[in-house]
This record gives sequence, structure tokens and C-alpha cells, in this order.
Amino acid sequence: MVAVQTSDLRTGGSALPNGKAKIPIVKFKAVSKVYGTGYTEVKALYNVDLNIHEGEFAPIMGPSGSGKSTCLNLIGCLDSPTSGSYQFRGVEVGNLNRNQRALLRRNYLGFVFQGYNLLKRTSAFENVVMPLVYRGFNRSERTTMALKALSAVGLKGREHHTPAKLSGGEQQRVAIARAIVTHPKLLLADEPTGNLDSRTSVEIMELLLRLNRQDQITIVMVTHEPDMADYASRTIHFLDGQITNANLFEKTLL
Ligand SMILES: Nc1ncnc2c1ncn2[C@@H]1O[C@H](COP(=O)(O)OP(=O)(O)OP(=O)(O)O)[C@@H](O)[C@H]1O
Ligand SMILES: [Mg+2]
Repeated sequence: MVAVQTSDLRTGGSALPNGKAKIPIVKFKAVSKVYGTGYTEVKALYNVDLNIHEGEFAPIMGPSGSGKSTCLNLIGCLDSPTSGSYQFRGVEVGNLNRNQRALLRRNYLGFVFQGYNLLKRTSAFENVVMPLVYRGFNRSERTTMALKALSAVGLKGREHHTPAKLSGGEQQRVAIARAIVTHPKLLLADEPTGNLDSRTSVEIMELLLRLNRQDQITIVMVTHEPDMADYASRTIHFLDGQITNANLFEKTLL
């Protein structure tokens, strides 16, 4: 039985066997995001507290306009909160300058989007090798890593196809390979199956689950797939810019 200390709960850390708090990979404290001013003001997120722990598979759900993408973009340091604190692995992101935030994104995060965002005229292999180019790996290391990532997403033999010669599901696999080739600590996906039919969606979801379980990649994913709730230890539900079930995960630790 793992002892949970009150200090762990206060800090939101999960308990380790030695009683020390493990720092969450993502920790939001009273995070708000307001777009525009005056008449055009939109409170996209309001006072959100959220902890994501290493190894978690955390689906984000909720109706259109409820703040899911805003939340994911803040986690991914693609945008900054209007107020509140965001710590990534214990580091206050608001204290980082632009370059440091870019480094954080490059070294720790992987992104997958609904529209794949692949370079159209370049092969699957070239798309996947791209994020490695400025990281100090030599050509043969880059080739090995890219081929391994493509094989991990089931695209062995398709490396030299351009996106136009791949199905939607295969294109999303390339995008996932590109996101994992750098070994990110956290993979962020915004409706990764939004453009896919239901059978292909299941395959992509199974792939993401496997990456989480086998390769221990922490995944936060916006999805409308109701079945995902069955595979995750919790789902994060948004409504009108707020999480409606914020402390569920912490409660399950007790
Ligand atoms: N760049 C922006 N400028 C102004 N308002 C924005 C901007 N981005 C989002 N919003 C507004 O913030 C609110 C939350 O938007 P968000 O994109 O986070 O919703 P969502 O839950 O991802 O919705 P969907 O399921 O449709 O993708 C919405 O009211 C939206 O119109
Ligand atoms: Mg969205």
C-alpha cells in the first residue's frame, strides 16, 4: 500500500513508494485564457487547475468551443495563458523566454493534428527525418531513427511514398512517426482521428494506446471518440472553459 502524504495532495504530486511527491509533467494552477478585449472578449479557459502525470493517457473531451484546443495549445507552449501558473516538469513556463520555450517544445513535446500537417511533396521518410536535422545526429543515426519510427507506426515499406500516395490513416501514421521520432516526454494530439472513418480511427487510437503502454509516452489527446474513456484511467471533460471533473485522478490515488 502506497502512503499518500498530505503534502503530496497539496502539491498535486502522485505518491511514490518512498513517500516523495513525483512532480507532474503538466501542472496548471488557476489558468485562464482570454481572447480579444471589450466586445470581442472570449473567456476560452477560466481558472483551470490540471495535473498530468508521467505515463498517463489522458483524453480531453467536451462540446465544440469548450476550450479543449486552447488547453492543448497552452500545454504545448504554442500560446501563453492570460493569467495563472503553468509548470512543465516543475519549471514555470511563464518565466521562460521565447527561445527557451521553443527548446522546450523541440526537446520534450510531440504534436499530432487533425489535418496531419505533412509536407506534401516530400516522402514519408523525409517528413519523419525532418525534426532530427537540427539536433546534432549524423545522417546514419537520423536514417536509423526515422526508419524505426516509421516501422513502429506500421509503415515499413511505405517510406518513400509522398502523402498523396498514402491513405488518410497512413498519413496520420506518418505524422505520429514524425512526432515520436524525437522521443518526446509528452505527445499532444488534437482530434487525431477527426478526418478518418471509424475503422481507421480505431487503428490510430490503438496505435496511440500502444505507444503509451509499450513506450511509456505520456499522451494528452483531444477526442470525440467516446470509447476512449474505457482505455484511460480518467477523461478530462471541458464545459464552457472549465474542467468539470478536475480532481478525479487525484482521488483515485487515495
Ligand atoms: N485565436 C482565437 N481568437 C479568438 N477566440 C478564439 C481563438 N481561439 C479560440 N477562440 C474561442 O475560444 C473558445 C474555445 O475555443 P477552442 O478552440 O479551445 O474550443 P474547442 O473545445 O477546441 O472546440 P472544437 O471542438 O470545435 O475544436 C471558443 O469560443 C473559440 O471561439
Ligand atoms: Mg478544438
